[in-house]
Amino acid sequence: MSCFRADALSGQHIVISGGCGALGVPVIRALVEHGARMSVNDLLIESEAESRLSKAAIPAGSVRYFRGDLSESDMAARFVVYAREVFGPIHTVLCHAGMVVPGPLVDFSEKDWDRTMSVNVRSAFLLARAAARAMIEDGIAGHLIFTTSWVSDVPWPDIGAYNASKAAMKQLMRSFARELAPRKIRANAIAPGIVGAGMARRQWDADAEYRARAQKAIPLGELQAPDSVADAFLFLSSAAAAYMTGSVLLVDGGCSLYPMD
Ligand SMILES: NC(=O)c1ccc[n+]([C@@H]2O[C@H](COP(=O)([O-])OP(=O)(O)OC[C@H]3O[C@@H](n4cnc5c(N)ncnc54)[C@H](O)[C@@H]3O)[C@@H](O)[C@H]2O)c1
Repeated sequence: MSCFRADALSGQHIVISGGCGALGVPVIRALVEHGARMSVNDLLIESEAESRLSKAAIPAGSVRYFRGDLSESDMAARFVVYAREVFGPIHTVLCHAGMVVPGPLVDFSEKDWDRTMSVNVRSAFLLARAAARAMIEDGIAGHLIFTTSWVSDVPWPDIGAYNASKAAMKQLMRSFARELAPRKIRANAIAPGIVGAGMARRQWDADAEYRARAQKAIPLGELQAPDSVADAFLFLSSAAAAYMTGSVLLVDGGCSLYPMD
């Protein structure tokens, strides 16, 4: 059962990129259950996106879907126009879309580097910029939330480009926080650990070396539940976090404490 009141997010319009992945769906479910209406973006075709959302018992009336690659010019701005048309002014934006290409940096291709930076950093910048412009125009004291990772501070082996992209997102968040504070628009990040779903789970299943390392790296001893990430989003989107800006909410089971061997 949730620790938050069922109406904790009532009246809020929340926008999310990459919302149909392993973490996005439980995040949307938690926010909608607490009263938010959500504009959801992903790359998936409409029928697949709608099926993932409805399988998670997310009421169709509380969400609208916009398909598009947010690293492309204009796509984030188009998503924001669409979102305002369907649910009105935007209160919170979740820059959540992300991807990882594993591999040592010395062998890493320029193409994979550019794609990682483009999806993780450029699309977050473009969406946060478009949403912040809308918030300013609508006179909303809004909130920009970036999904980073514990690896923004700890160089987890074999995902160097991803580590660097998450560190860039963290500093992007802090820069937005400083720039927009006079307008009462806040920016924060959520940094999950090693979740038993999505990109970490795929690597866990496919790569025995990764699995052995990850098994030793979580002081709390088990893979992170996606719902713990959803709870962090719920807290940060709620009025309980109203005095936070420029912060990283680290929810990693202690991964970042661990002395790697
Ligand atoms: N799974 C983990 O352990 C973990 C840990 C820390 C942080 N994260 C972060 O959480 C976020 C979600 O990860 P996940 O594990 O759910 O991965 P996932 O692959 O299940 O979901 C990512 C979603 O983003 C979408 N996407 C990718 N590129 C896009 C683009 N250019 N435009 C729009 N949508 C795009 C994908 O279609 C997918 O549905 C990412 O930012 C990731 O870096 C994940």
